[in-house]
Amino acid sequence: AGAASSPIPLGSAAEIDTFRSDMRYREALKRYCDVIVPMNDLKWEALRHDRPRFDFSGSDELVAFAEANRKTLRGHTLLWGEALPAWAKEMTTRAEAERELVNHIEIVVDRYRGRIATWDVVNEVIKYDPQPGEPYRDTIWQRLLGPEHVEIAFRTAARADPKARLVLNDFHFEEREPGAAARRKVALDICRRLKDKGIPVHGIGMQAHLYAEKRIDTEGLQRFMRDLDSLGLDVEITELDVIDWKMPADAGQRDAAAASLVASFLGAICAAKRPKAIVTWGLSDRYSWIHETFPRKDGARARPLPLDADYRPKPMMAVLEGYRSGAY
Ligand code: XIL
Repeated sequence: AGAASSPIPLGSAAEIDTFRSDMRYREALKRYCDVIVPMNDLKWEALRHDRPRFDFSGSDELVAFAEANRKTLRGHTLLWGEALPAWAKEMTTRAEAERELVNHIEIVVDRYRGRIATWDVVNEVIKYDPQPGEPYRDTIWQRLLGPEHVEIAFRTAARADPKARLVLNDFHFEEREPGAAARRKVALDICRRLKDKGIPVHGIGMQAHLYAEKRIDTEGLQRFMRDLDSLGLDVEITELDVIDWKMPADAGQRDAAAASLVASFLGAICAAKRPKAIVTWGLSDRYSWIHETFPRKDGARARPLPLDADYRPKPMMAVLEGYRSGAY
């Protein structure tokens, strides 16, 4: 039987300590992934712990693993208001912030030039609930550089690796809430402005940390996809997982709900535009940021990911494999 649609590469973020300690984790990355994203090791906190010295130990190890196993790489992330070392949060002048940002992006992107195919150039720069005239989140970058921080980041990344795909990554695009519609509009506006200035931007990354208790805005998403299309932009799903903190305790019920939520989310998007990649934020329920960040009242472990805590595929994996094979 032939594929009905073009296959979509599937991927996962990889956390370095788990990667080093759990062989089953490494095997799962090999088996299920076409794309690998260092989960934390390209963040400023990891690379720039000591101000004068870049520490590439974790990212080099994950990049080498990806290359040895013929996986492509996404880089996460060059500019973010979080995961910053103390010294970066204490910068005080515009000149200092610009010098540090440009220097950082040049060194990091250059080190992996031609090897990290896609960069989340900026992460979470859009205000949670943007108001007209106030699109950007309050971060050290916005405080010291103003709206230009986004341009500086994209321009510098493009210069450091002219062949890299450059993405604006953010969350909360899929909900049926006015704030989500406002966020979609801001994302489009930012990209349009970059393009008008001749600064390369290739796509939007939708984190897609999906709330199991919320409903997807199918129409809004499809309009978003068409708007991206008319700007010549790609879409990728970059941090997919399911936040099941408000769901009933029964594991089977939660897994079924997660699979059907992911199916309706991906179905809505793919009906309008096929993403360049679908990346989950981890593979196995054994390890996920959701456990700590969205704890359940009953103390039960979260079940956010496509493999269970013993690496058995859950119904969500069948959905993802359908896109990976081109069946969907
Ligand atoms: C999370 C990681 O998964 C955790 O290991 C870390 O402690 C904190 O960051 N949005 C993002 C990701 O863009 O970088 C975050 O990753 C999850 C939310």
